[in-house]
Amino acid sequence: MTEKQLSGEVYYPSEEILKNANAKCQKLYSFAEKDYLGFWESEASNLNWFKKWDKVLDDSNKPFFQWFINGKTNIAYNCLDVHCENFRRNKIALFWEGENGDIRSFSYFALRRDTCRFANVLKSMGVNKGDRVTIYMGRIPEAIIAMLACARIGAIHSVVYGGFSVEALHERLEDSQSKVLIVADGAFQRGKIVELKKIADEALQRAATVESVLVVKRTGQEINMEFGRDMWYHELMHLPIASSRCDIEVMDAEDPLFLLYTSGTTGKPKAILHTHGGYMVGTYATCKYVFDIHEEDRFWCTADPGWITGHSYVVYGPLLNGATSFIYEGAPTYPYPNRWWQMIEKYGINILYTAPTAIRGFMRFGDAWVKRNNLSSLRLLGSVGEPINPEAWKWYYKVVGGERCPIMDTWWQTETGMFMITSMPCTPLKPGSGTKPFPGLQVDIVDEGGNSVNTNDEGYLVIKTPWPAMLRTIWNNPDAYVQQYWSKFPGMYMTGDSARRDEDGYYWIIGRVDDVIKVSGYRLGSAEIESALVSHPSVAEAAAIGLPHEVKGNAIHAFIILRTGYEKTDKLIEDLKQHVGHEVGPIAKPEQIEVVDSLPKTRSGKIMRRVLKAHALGIDPGNISTLEE
Ligand code: PRX
Repeated sequence: MTEKQLSGEVYYPSEEILKNANAKCQKLYSFAEKDYLGFWESEASNLNWFKKWDKVLDDSNKPFFQWFINGKTNIAYNCLDVHCENFRRNKIALFWEGENGDIRSFSYFALRRDTCRFANVLKSMGVNKGDRVTIYMGRIPEAIIAMLACARIGAIHSVVYGGFSVEALHERLEDSQSKVLIVADGAFQRGKIVELKKIADEALQRAATVESVLVVKRTGQEINMEFGRDMWYHELMHLPIASSRCDIEVMDAEDPLFLLYTSGTTGKPKAILHTHGGYMVGTYATCKYVFDIHEEDRFWCTADPGWITGHSYVVYGPLLNGATSFIYEGAPTYPYPNRWWQMIEKYGINILYTAPTAIRGFMRFGDAWVKRNNLSSLRLLGSVGEPINPEAWKWYYKVVGGERCPIMDTWWQTETGMFMITSMPCTPLKPGSGTKPFPGLQVDIVDEGGNSVNTNDEGYLVIKTPWPAMLRTIWNNPDAYVQQYWSKFPGMYMTGDSARRDEDGYYWIIGRVDDVIKVSGYRLGSAEIESALVSHPSVAEAAAIGLPHEVKGNAIHAFIILRTGYEKTDKLIEDLKQHVGHEVGPIAKPEQIEVVDSLPKTRSGKIMRRVLKAHALGIDPGNISTLEE
């Protein structure tokens, strides 16, 4: 990357950033370009294995790739024990602030101790290697302890975002056939209590496989505890079964680590499967190089553990690197719009990783709220979840980062497990571009025929080389894995995004090309919202689309056909919004619901959401030759 040749508006890293960066960019890129398996192997060698792998990649059964063949390890061992055995026993692994001002912190020693104790509790509930455990909590340390405890004993965790509601939780419990549910009584959000246990009770009425429910006391309100099924976490943790000695389950590199449900083009959310070995190597290396983790850093990824960003960059990536990770329970602007900035100052956060929707939300309150606090500890910033518009990028860079902190715009997905297209501290930045593929990855933009498009032309974003943290399959549905990701362009992983590449080889993500809607960076499927709507007695048919929104990026707009006997009233529309909130979760509530007489469909009966979107935006719908008369 020779600086002067880059086109457009470019921000170059300072000498100081360059001097200290872990990633010596050119070296890393050229090593990985020459020998991408060698690159991943050298990263894997920095971690601890009970038995070394025989081979780095097995691609004999594409697209079911396998990594670190016959290697034996355990990600939780690498997150905790390794640091306790070495020099980080007393280092803070995790510190936390509740929305109500509660504070807790865990050294690596304490986090391992509590993880072991809880792992023993799980064992005593009959949880064995390969069993599924669902975790449904707010952003509290116990969510992380529960994840690590599962990993330690080889159980597969399935974290369900605490913002999801009854039906979403029920579906995930059923599909994963979870044996145990770990839930909090509630979570604090904007000064109110989200009644998680109450939602869980409703979801559990139809979840046949759950034998035990372990309840963490966070908010303390009166809740229902079902005798013989529900037990308090704090009581169990004080029983003799909760010993702080717990042997580590030796896991094959390819053994499952977790399921995480995400929305796709059709039907219900699918469970993406990640493994102990490859996922560990991918999150370790990307976190180290992109966020340039140094020993004294305090790292804050604002994501919820219920999303992939929380899994990879709140929990696993930072802990694998022996870093200090901060989590905050509540709403960003509660009680005042400078809550985040106060905490950055108070705790001396060095690296802040968040989403464009949060940045846009803060921009609305003006610079003065940010400037009230001293943010000079910040060294690096990050962005994820959706394209960051250049205006928000510049505000983030200038007002939050004081024009000294490079912004790591990280493009990736639940499925990729780790950063795929991203800047590194040494990369010259262009606002709004994720810059280049991470070393060791071959990314391309192709047309309908699978051929690379010309510079600056829009096309499908695809990945042409396997990578260690890639999803291995869709749980219980390998055919859907092949169909959804590998069938449109044989030999290429289809991301579902469109993008263009400029004359400097920089990637610019445009957005989803399927029926996935990104609302405030959260991923929702049109189909989920539509099925929630038609589950209401008044709705015969429904279509949901995303339309641009100043803060959320996209907002959901729904079109419905009412059943005979129902009339459009303001009350009915409000009831329908509440109904979607109850079924899926508050984030899925439509911004607007329009009652229509018919919906545009293809002759085979598929709703043409693209036509609805064009109509709503007042733009040309493009090719409508398949539209029904
Ligand atoms: O459309 C892309 C968008 O988020 C999608 C993946 O969503 P999810 O699986 O929920 O994971 C989000 C966090 C990794 C992608 O297909 N996306 C994610 N990061 C970016 C982005 N779009 C543009 N720029 C990004 N940095």
